[in-house]
Amino acid sequence: MGRLFAALYETVSKGSEAAGIRERRRQLLAAAEGSTLEIGAGTGLNLAHYPQAVTQLVLTEPDRHMRRRLQQRLDALGREAEIVEASAEGLPFPDATFDTAVATYVLCSVADQDAALREIARVLKLSGRLLFLEHVRSEEPKLARRQDRVRPLYNLFGCNPNRDTLARIHASPLTVESVEHGEVPKAPKVERPLIVGAARR
Ligand SMILES: C[S@@+](CC[C@H](N)C(=O)[O-])C[C@H]1O[C@@H](n2cnc3c(N)ncnc32)[C@H](O)[C@@H]1O
Repeated sequence: MGRLFAALYETVSKGSEAAGIRERRRQLLAAAEGSTLEIGAGTGLNLAHYPQAVTQLVLTEPDRHMRRRLQQRLDALGREAEIVEASAEGLPFPDATFDTAVATYVLCSVADQDAALREIARVLKLSGRLLFLEHVRSEEPKLARRQDRVRPLYNLFGCNPNRDTLARIHASPLTVESVEHGEVPKAPKVERPLIVGAARR
């Protein structure tokens, strides 16, 4: 994804984080427990929100520029976690390793959503949970068409704003337990449709 995206990511998302996404992250991650895996952890915007109930934290991230920033944030927070270079489509962990998996703003970026969701399900223990927060395809056809049109531009930053991620989670081995539809505040219209929820293995 590159040095520039890693450098600009927090500046670009600052407005929406302050206007509500930071609080959404906190509420979502309050349900994390036990051995926890975060997929595509980026610069580590979730790190401050993991509760005491998380006993082990593993952060995967394929991009080296992101990993460098992730390590810096871990050091600044004095938080224990292992950073692993990996893509969600090929997680280097045995079956049934984790109690919780976390994906925030990452299923828009993975190359293959179905493969990533299969891998997440594989590494979750039976009745383990995926916690997700993702910007997704609009249910309004006009906005969805606009998302299709801008996708090539967003692809330059590794993002697909037009994905029906909830449909892919439903089609995966996971069972959706809860989902809330909302909006990413202070974001371009094509990035606003939001889903936040949990799915069980
Ligand atoms: C928009 S950033 C989100 C970062 C972080 N999850 C957050 O909530 O702020 C997308 C992240 O997904 C990572 N990513 C891209 N392709 C991936 C893949 N195939 N598997 C796992 N992570 C991936 C990127 O390197 C980047 O760190």
